[in-house]
Amino acid sequence: MCGIVGYVGKQRAVSIIIEGLKRLEYRGYDSAGVCVLQGGQLDVAKKAGRVEVLAKEAARHRFNGTTGIGHTRWATHGGVTDANAHPHVSSDGKFALIHNGVIENYSQMKQFLVGKGYTFASETDTEVLCNLIAYHYAKEPVGQNGGSRFVECVRKSLQHVEGTYGIVVLGVDFPGEMVAARKASPLILGVGDGEYIIASDASALVSRTQNVVYLKDGEIVHITPAAFSITTLDQEDVSPVVDRITWSVADADMGDYAHFMEKEIFEQPQALENTMRGRFSEDGSTANFGGLNITAAELRQIDRFLFCACGTAWHACLVTEHLIERFARIPCEVDYASEFRYRNTPLHSNTLFFVISQSGETIDTLAALREAKRKGYKALAINNVVGSTIAREADGGIYQHVGPEIGVASTKAFTSQLMVGAMVALYVARLRDMSFSDGVQYVKALKGAPALVRKALEQAPHIRAIAKRFAGYHDMLFLGRLSLFPLALEGALKLKEISYIHAEGYPAAEMKHGPIALISEKCPSVFFAPAGEIFPKIVSSMQEIKARKGPVIAIITEGCELPPGLADEVITIPDCHEAVLPMVAAIPIQLLSYYIAVERGCDVDKPRNLAKSVTVE
Ligand code: M6R
Repeated sequence: MCGIVGYVGKQRAVSIIIEGLKRLEYRGYDSAGVCVLQGGQLDVAKKAGRVEVLAKEAARHRFNGTTGIGHTRWATHGGVTDANAHPHVSSDGKFALIHNGVIENYSQMKQFLVGKGYTFASETDTEVLCNLIAYHYAKEPVGQNGGSRFVECVRKSLQHVEGTYGIVVLGVDFPGEMVAARKASPLILGVGDGEYIIASDASALVSRTQNVVYLKDGEIVHITPAAFSITTLDQEDVSPVVDRITWSVADADMGDYAHFMEKEIFEQPQALENTMRGRFSEDGSTANFGGLNITAAELRQIDRFLFCACGTAWHACLVTEHLIERFARIPCEVDYASEFRYRNTPLHSNTLFFVISQSGETIDTLAALREAKRKGYKALAINNVVGSTIAREADGGIYQHVGPEIGVASTKAFTSQLMVGAMVALYVARLRDMSFSDGVQYVKALKGAPALVRKALEQAPHIRAIAKRFAGYHDMLFLGRLSLFPLALEGALKLKEISYIHAEGYPAAEMKHGPIALISEKCPSVFFAPAGEIFPKIVSSMQEIKARKGPVIAIITEGCELPPGLADEVITIPDCHEAVLPMVAAIPIQLLSYYIAVERGCDVDKPRNLAKSVTVE
């Protein structure tokens, strides 16, 4: 949540910062601002609204300086106003600061600072921290070494802060310098050719450099045009490790698509290939994972899995639960990360704990991981963003390798999580009861998934026509059973978040225990009705809806036949192995939600009130 960018180098900072903010806008987009240090002043432009609005405002300023910071906001404290937009400048004009996170004890600090004569122009927690830095500096403005004095003031201030932060600070007395620090909010330092860019994520800097340092919690970086150094809050020196980003700026571009979400939906066959690459055994009967950091012998001892995640990733956990129990015959539980972190869940010593997170920065998921580790359990992560906090703190894990996912609505990351879950189920099953030949069948099925997903994507024009017909409704139900019940939840979430239509997901048979009261000609139901023993039961549920005049959209697998007139619309997807079915079934609900949102004129990639990566509680 919130995107932050800082630049120190030889170029005009404002252009690089605004370009970076455009790429980070998916993290928050209610207001944006920039501050450039020039002519001995901290010159700020900030506006409520999108980065485009800021770009126009910035054009009116004569920003020529080569050191600057910028921010795109997802509001926590204080409404969406120009004044509450970042950067914030201390009331003495000495420091400017951008912040991602929440300062929990800001009101005590504010009281203290008001008593010292500091004034406030906004309702934000961030402005308090900025004034606190100014206060520490005012107490002792001249130090032995100008640069480290800057760091010391930031360090002293952060020692009083409770909460989370990724911050970047400019000081009027420190031209060409920048100090940044993090606790629970991501920050990456790009090490360029005679320049440094610090940002919330790599998409903002990859056009200038692929060499990066992932800052860790409790670290402070001091940047000048010539060098950077990292220390901890406790004043220990840190030797930085420079990593290389494996993707390029082209991966974070929209290409010819209308939206990132559309691009990412259509990228799924390739994304699934990337997730599987190099991860099957030579004999083709099981999966291999390089970074799992758990031996086969240890895995054989596991008698319970616990998966935690949020949102779409939580739905991926539910599908994985189904596959692990079905194929590996090991009990598996799923919890919301936000609940697990506060519940004192008893964990048995042979429990294996997993989190799933696309971003690897979701604060609740990170807290759940830390809680499991604190209790002494091995905690593994399935995660897309290389070098993310969750990836670094987990005891081991599996990268999804699907490249940057920019659309706020998760699509390719979801199907890739389903693929990883299916592979974990296979791996564990083969360590237990699954036969060699069943393993070979399973692997063949997974390898065939990209082609089947591609085939499902061919339904796009048909689904677009259905979307036109249903875009005007206010409520919708999504119904499925077994491994497709989580897909019903996912369909409802996708539709809600990007089209603002109220939607609910239910197990199809559960519908008659309450939700059926909603059914009328005004409330359509989307049914997953794949071939198999459950098919006739799902058809009965459809009949119950139809008897109450509810419109029905049926997603069936090839070869299934519905009684004539039962469904108002039918979408046919390829029939496939149980482990692959959820990946293929995801396509029609993603496309339906996407086209409905487009039809309603919604801002698909930046839905209201949302942000891609939820780094606050
Ligand atoms: O980055 P994560 O996978 O941890 O994110 C979890 C959720 O915030 C995320 O899946 C969210 O629900 C998406 N907007 C769903 O499309």
